[in-house]
Formats: sequence, C-alpha cells, structure tokens
Amino acid sequence: MSSDEHPISIHKLVKRYGKYTTIGPASIDIERKWIFGFLGPNGAGKTTTIRMMLGLVRPNEGSVKIFGEDPFKSPARALENVGYAPELPNFQTFFSGEDLLDFTAKLYGIGSSERRRKVRELIEMVGLSDHARKKIGKYSKGMVQRLSVAQALVNDPELLIMDEPTLGMDPVATIHFRDLFRSLASEGRTIFISSHQLDEIQRLATHIGMINRGQMVFQGTTDSVLNAFAKKYSIEVELERMDDGIVEKIKELSYVREARVDANRIHVTLNETRDLRADLAEDIIRSGGRLRGLSLHKATLEDAFIETLRRGGS
Ligand SMILES: Nc1ncnc2c1ncn2[C@@H]1O[C@H](COP(=O)(O)OP(=O)(O)OP(=O)(O)O)[C@@H](O)[C@H]1O
Ligand SMILES: [Mg+2]
Repeated sequence: MSSDEHPISIHKLVKRYGKYTTIGPASIDIERKWIFGFLGPNGAGKTTTIRMMLGLVRPNEGSVKIFGEDPFKSPARALENVGYAPELPNFQTFFSGEDLLDFTAKLYGIGSSERRRKVRELIEMVGLSDHARKKIGKYSKGMVQRLSVAQALVNDPELLIMDEPTLGMDPVATIHFRDLFRSLASEGRTIFISSHQLDEIQRLATHIGMINRGQMVFQGTTDSVLNAFAKKYSIEVELERMDDGIVEKIKELSYVREARVDANRIHVTLNETRDLRADLAEDIIRSGGRLRGLSLHKATLEDAFIETLRRGGS
C-alpha cells in the first residue's frame, strides 16, 4: 500500500441488475481523515456501491481502487487495512460477543495475549462490557450493531466502511459512536458511512455524497452542500391551529414557492433570497390565521435530501 493513495477511489463505476436497475456511473475520491456520509433513499444503490468497494459485487464497468489496489484482483492487499460493518450483520448466535471478536482476531493472526487485550479494549470502546459473555442470539438490535462496529475495528483499520452502523442505536449510543468515529478520524483514519439519519450525518460527516436511483446527485463538503441549499430561504410557521385553508392561501402568495405541512408547522420555501417573515406574517393574519410563531430556517441536510428527491421526481 502506498501511503499517498486515496483510501477510496471509484471511477465511473457501474453495476447493472437485469434490464431495469443500473447503479452508477458513480465516481468518488475519498481522502484520508474524511468522514464521508453516503446518503440516498431505499434502493438507491448505497449497499451495492459499498459491496463493489469491498470486491463482493463485480461491477459491469468502471474501476474501484482501495488504497490504490483493486479489491477484485488483489483483495488481500486492497482490504488488509479496511474494516467493514455490513448493513445486516449476520453473526453466529451461539457465540458471545467476546468469542466473536476473539475469533475474528484469530483470523487476522493476532496472538493470544494481544488478542485478549484487544478484545477487552474493543468491548469497552463500543460499550458492551456488561454483555461481553452473553450469547449474540440474546443481544438486542443495538447491541448487535455495536458488536459489528467492534468487529470492523479488530484489525485496526485505516479505512472503516460502515453500512448504516447506528441503525437501531438509542440516542445515547448514537452520541457515543459519533464521538468514537470522530476520534478515529482524528487519529488519521478514514470513515465511510452510509446512513438515513440525516441529522446525525450533518453533525458527523466532513463530506457528503448522495445517490438517487443509482446516480450521484451531489457531492462535496458538508458545508458546501448545506450552503448550496441555504440560498433558498425558508420560513417555519406555527399556527395556533393547523388550517388547510391558510396553507392554500400561503401557497398562492407570489413570493412562495411551496408550502408543506409538517406536524403542526408549515414549512414555507420562498422564491426570493430575502427574509420575508414580516410580509408572510402580515399575509397570514390578513387571511385569518392565528399565528403562534415564525422562524427563518437554515437549510438542513434533510432539506437538501427532500429537495433533491423532489427534483429527481422520486
Ligand atoms: N442481488 C441483487 N439482484 C438484483 N437486484 C439487486 C440486488 N441487490 C440489489 N439490487 C437492486 O439494486 C438497487 C439498489 O439496491 P441497494 O441495496 O444497493 O440499495 P440501498 O441504497 O442500499 O438501499 P437501502 O437504503 O434500502 O439499504 C435496488 O433496486 C435493488 O433491488
Ligand atoms: Mg442498503
């Protein structure tokens, strides 16, 4: 492995499943220490792309290099510094968490005393100390996810690829893992993480890529993606009582591009890049609405995601 190679470099990668499903062409270059958030709706092609990176699915076109090596031609060399936590970990249920990590470490040829230390350290790192000897069959969903991340870390990887690792984790665990991933990246590791938890990715990822129907639709630093969408102002409106008539009136206003009801709020996207809170308040009151609050809304990753899907006609 040459140290100046990109941890992940994929170029015009294409995978076809039958006549109707094409994933790609996708191109991504990921640099060291990045935390790359890979987003996309169900069936967009995230897992398939990840599996091509790991040499588990053969692409029809394009190339994938992991630290400059081809994971199909030389899997051992390409993947020796990679840890992978799959989408649906499928562990032997009769193993305990500790057994599984010990077994994995053995496969990597780690000697017994080092193994004991490593297993203890990983169990602690992912917060499973109280369940280390419990059979995996008796683990909760979140515990299985924790164990999966621990397993991906056994070989002390420089690149950690995780397919929805925090799925099923409680909020405290999510924060714990956010800190863990950040500290792994600060040690110089690279993290590639697919997720549907957009607020989490917004907090965690330095860079973001989004795939929709097999196509990469945006890629960039998290800030640049948010800024691109933040150009459009939006205003969140809270009424005393939700009223469909008012929503319809808001939609008809010349400076409103769209109004979407979300629980007890109306999310109003403007045509103009001006703060039109005062105008909107006046128009709502004139239409008979009882206003509880109005706030200018900074674009979130969720906005970017929803807007992109809408544009793409998904
Ligand atoms: N082995 C397979 N055979 C045929 N089609 C497949 C196969 N694996 C995936 N696909 C199809 O490829 C597309 C992308 O699937 P993929 O699992 O990569 O999506 P994803 O982005 O990971 O979705 P999710 O968010 O639901 O995990 C889907 O249309 C899926 O049905
Ligand atoms: Mg998937």
